[in-house]
Amino acid sequence: MKHIGILTGGGDAPGLNAVIRAVVKSANGVFGMRVIGIRHGFEGLLDKKGIIELTPESVRGILNRGGTILGTANRGNPFARRVMRDGVQVIEDASMEVVERIKELKLGALIVVGGGGTLRISLELFEQGCPIIGIPKTIDNDVGGTDVSFGFDTAVSIATEAIDRLHSTAESHHRSMVLELMGRNAGFIALEAGLAGGADVILIPEIPFHFEGIYEKVRSRVAAGRPFSIISIAEGAHPVGGEQSFLDDVQGGKSKRLGGIGNIISEKIAKNCAMETRVTVLGHLQRGGSPTAYDRSLATRFGAAAVRLAHEQTFGYMMGLRGTEIMPVELKQAVATPSRVKVDGDAMQAARDLGVYLGE
Ligand code: F6P
Repeated sequence: MKHIGILTGGGDAPGLNAVIRAVVKSANGVFGMRVIGIRHGFEGLLDKKGIIELTPESVRGILNRGGTILGTANRGNPFARRVMRDGVQVIEDASMEVVERIKELKLGALIVVGGGGTLRISLELFEQGCPIIGIPKTIDNDVGGTDVSFGFDTAVSIATEAIDRLHSTAESHHRSMVLELMGRNAGFIALEAGLAGGADVILIPEIPFHFEGIYEKVRSRVAAGRPFSIISIAEGAHPVGGEQSFLDDVQGGKSKRLGGIGNIISEKIAKNCAMETRVTVLGHLQRGGSPTAYDRSLATRFGAAAVRLAHEQTFGYMMGLRGTEIMPVELKQAVATPSRVKVDGDAMQAARDLGVYLGE
């Protein structure tokens, strides 16, 4: 195999550059392969200017850099591509163009680094005959078939630091601090940062919560001489019998972006617990900047393992971390069931044992 390609799709995550570097260095150094970088996700395969050659020189110094030198796109599904026709936006299937372009570029393998959405597209392309190998990336940690995705550890570290900082100001002012964290429909970031930061309340999408339970926890801390509380809440969390909260879009309707539940809870605690509250929405700070050592190492291991699989010409797999080892997992299996917090798992049990209110 002489050429392989690599692209990064979906939202960015710390560690993408570490994967790109590992792929280029090992493909080139061990197997003498040329690596073609595809820019802005699958979009780069539909644009003649969307490819660049990646050499060990061009990936020098990027191991610790956030973002992706290839660029990425959230809305780059070739099976449902948005295009303008006579001034009107239409959705068309451009997947055959992608398949043809992969052949034209003579890519012996295409390494796709992405989250659930990108990996689903990858599976469909594999089923159309493309030589795909996936690598799981997401701060949300919700990709199935792997114990961890790279990007998650960095997001948890940043969220934990935020909780630490909120703690001191909460204590000084006798306030409740609500921290809204990312994660889509999975509560991993809110749970892990909540545990690491010593939050009093942790609310995740996997367990619809009762407002009364939050008030009780906050009031009981006041009664115990601790007149401040920290609430770590996932953006996708919602009350029992209630809906998830979405942000307003530019036209004034509701967008598909989760957000707003932190404000709702903050206002309710202020009213029902007669306490000053503040809300912090950590947002994209969780995704930007330098990856942690763990994420750099995991991303590097995923990248090198994907190149070994490409050399063996084994396609339709995603690299997964199982225990301490990286191993190939069928893409079909990886996308079938997204990963969610185990509500009876050890992390949740530890939180319960320490008296954290989890919404139940
Ligand atoms: O999937 C990663 C993620 O950061 C989610 O946690 C969040 O809901 C979403 O992406 C935000 O997307 P965008 O970057 O489009 O605002």
